[in-house]
Amino acid sequence: MGSIIWIDIRDRYGITQLIFNEAVTKTELVEQARQIGREFVIMATGSVIERSSKNQNLPTGEIEILVVALTIINKSELPPFTIEDETDGGEELRMKYRYLDIRREPVRKNLELRYRMTQEVRKYLDGQNFIEVETPVLIKSTPEGARDFVVPSRLHKGQFYALPQSPQVFKQLLMVAGLDKYYQLVKCFRDEDFRADRQPEFTQIDCEMSFVMSDDILNTFEGLAKHLFQTLKNIDFTAPFPRLTYTDALTYYGTDKPDIRFEMKISEITLLVKGKGFGIADNAEYIGGICAKNCSEYSRKQLDELTEFVKKPQIGAKGLVAVKFNQDGMVKSSIDKFYTQDDLLKWKALFNAENGDLLLILAGEKISTLSALSALRLEMGQRLGLRDKNKFAPLWVTDFPLLEWDQETQRFYAMHHPFTSPNPDDIPLLDTNPADVKALAYDLVINGTEIGGGSIRIHNSDLQQKMFSILGLTQEQAEKQFGFLMNAFKFGAPPHGGIAFGFDRWVALFAGVDSIRDVIAFPKNNAGSDIMIDTPSEISETQLKELF
Ligand code: AMO
Repeated sequence: MGSIIWIDIRDRYGITQLIFNEAVTKTELVEQARQIGREFVIMATGSVIERSSKNQNLPTGEIEILVVALTIINKSELPPFTIEDETDGGEELRMKYRYLDIRREPVRKNLELRYRMTQEVRKYLDGQNFIEVETPVLIKSTPEGARDFVVPSRLHKGQFYALPQSPQVFKQLLMVAGLDKYYQLVKCFRDEDFRADRQPEFTQIDCEMSFVMSDDILNTFEGLAKHLFQTLKNIDFTAPFPRLTYTDALTYYGTDKPDIRFEMKISEITLLVKGKGFGIADNAEYIGGICAKNCSEYSRKQLDELTEFVKKPQIGAKGLVAVKFNQDGMVKSSIDKFYTQDDLLKWKALFNAENGDLLLILAGEKISTLSALSALRLEMGQRLGLRDKNKFAPLWVTDFPLLEWDQETQRFYAMHHPFTSPNPDDIPLLDTNPADVKALAYDLVINGTEIGGGSIRIHNSDLQQKMFSILGLTQEQAEKQFGFLMNAFKFGAPPHGGIAFGFDRWVALFAGVDSIRDVIAFPKNNAGSDIMIDTPSEISETQLKELF
């Protein structure tokens, strides 16, 4: 501004304004100030003075520094995007220059939050007598359901290490070793397809305890969750977290990770809908729906949008039936041909719907229809503003099935992992009806995200052997892959169980961001690459020759 120059100087703690006033500042200094460009590193000396026009939005907005000496320590090229809270750099560019991206306050704040969370996790677990133990990174494959990343061994040609998908077997061995309460903030590696809440390397808060039952674990780690909510979000959860069985979660929310920030539960309505000549319904295994409060005014266009939504290939419904219960008591639907007003009033009663509400109904095969209803419920929750990022609704989902049948390979897979204990009451069913066996397994779900999961473990080598055989491993294969574990169980293994939390997911939830990339300093992109350091990349012939 004419004879005055202002320069914003930014460091980790914020922005401070420097001022050069031609009236009082030496001319060379003013000239020097004019040389400064964006992102230059400078050293300035001067007096802190009160600003004439104060900026209430800045912590340093009431002062400025009248500069008397200036050094340009290092110049900067013009950065490829502006380093401000709202930047013009697309994701790709920001990741290529991630060190510049981290200069932006929102990114830095997320990393600071992440750090404070690690401190609070350690403080809480230390207070509960846990000890942190590091486990190896070059290991043998651990089955957690994803593909392993493998590392060729130079000294043992043709042989490979696997990177841990989790420290599962090691933490169990630490229990056999008598450590009683273990935790670790640990990197895990999984070669799986990408989503906003998945990275090929991610961090777990991994925990294990001896001489415990499910309740002990749930209580201890509900304590951790409450501690984190209290210290980082200033939210006190006084009541116990709700607990929902896996079966109920599927029945009422269509998913094992329900978002319970809002009600809108799914109700089954198969019997009322079938048998009236409406073909799709008559042939359906299951018919269910949700009741959206105060949505009877939805327009044709809005209902068409919802129909398009449920028909998307990833959701897979064939169509959507909507029934409006108007404020004036009129009932409107697209299927009036098949159902009388009386029929539709019975539907209304089943859903506890009131005038002003809208029923949305899907029909088809049971599991896929429930899953489509779950997606529709979330979509409606979103549209109605019921998924507030500042509201948190944690719950435990319990009593998962032990096994999952896979049609393609015609065999059972462990729903959690092969070390999960069946519910002792169900052990006889292992021989007769394995699909009905429940596991002593639980997940912590917050706002529809699976934040953590764990189980009571098998600690008996015969039962572990049996589990492997149900999973299709011969005794020989089991021995080769997990002999060390079954052997360890022969030397006085305590009953034990544990849990692991997806730390990145938890930080993202607290930071209010949708992708875990935003809370990881140097994340991989959607294709699993780090475009800043350009990896994965080829290695030299010499390196290859040494390995193979
Ligand atoms: P699980 O496989 O359920 O359990 O993993 C625990 C938690 O880790 C998080 N998570 C991920 N986060 C980011 N990117 C990924 N690719 C990813 N995969 C998983 C989720 C999940 O709930 N060893 C068992 C735990 C145990 O039984 O104690 C395990 O790893 O939030």
